[in-house]
Amino acid sequence: MDLETICDLPVRDVVAKNAHLYLWVPNALLPDGLRVLDAWGFRYVSNVVWAKRRKDGGPDGRGVGFYFRNVTEIMLFGVRGSMRTLPPARSQVNMIETRKREHSRKPDEQYDLIERCSPGPFLEMFARYPQEGWSAWGDEAGAEVVPRGRSHRGYEGGEVERVPILEPHERLTTDTAKRIGMVLRERYEAGASIRQLASETDYSIARVRALLATANTELRGRGRTPSTAST
Ligand SMILES: C[S@@+](CC[C@H](N)C(=O)[O-])C[C@H]1O[C@@H](n2cnc3c(N)ncnc32)[C@H](O)[C@@H]1O
Repeated sequence: MDLETICDLPVRDVVAKNAHLYLWVPNALLPDGLRVLDAWGFRYVSNVVWAKRRKDGGPDGRGVGFYFRNVTEIMLFGVRGSMRTLPPARSQVNMIETRKREHSRKPDEQYDLIERCSPGPFLEMFARYPQEGWSAWGDEAGAEVVPRGRSHRGYEGGEVERVPILEPHERLTTDTAKRIGMVLRERYEAGASIRQLASETDYSIARVRALLATANTELRGRGRTPSTAST
């Protein structure tokens, strides 16, 4: 799903006149996240940072990044109409510190945080797991669906992180290109889009395409590509 399609989702029609939005956005796509928030009728107010921790509590530095190694992800917080957060929010810090799980899976602590800070009813979009007390929307949201995050190797939360940080025009040996290409191919075949892979690795779209080609990946047609741009 491309940015325009996400912006055009009829979110305004299903949410209350006064509502809160918590929108996950990859660091590299922050401006896109703000566009989506605006298109859905919310104004940006604040954010919650997920600090990914190792088992020993240190920052989980396995994340990718061309400029910096990403150990955080941002959940934008927007308001539609006029509505303050609930009283418990006054003591809620805007940070979640937990360990990573499957690729792109967000911490369950988000539900507690949201339920404490915002009144229901609650809707999760692009949900991968049903959550009690929440309506869920997304092609993996049904209780009977086994999410790709559980079954595909590419969603285990490790593969894509093993690709190296590359300079924009850095040349690769054939072996290295093949190895990286295979890692990306697994993720692509598990549902990741080219744009998403570029965002995660900080490689250009052209580089991701070339690496996928090196691994003989059969590409999906345009417009039918799953996306993770918003949750
Ligand atoms: C990155 S995952 C969401 C991760 C989830 N929030 C979590 O924490 O595990 C994106 C989800 O959106 C679903 N999805 C992608 N494109 C979709 C579309 N066009 N319509 C409905 N669902 C879609 C994917 O199948 C996947 O379950």
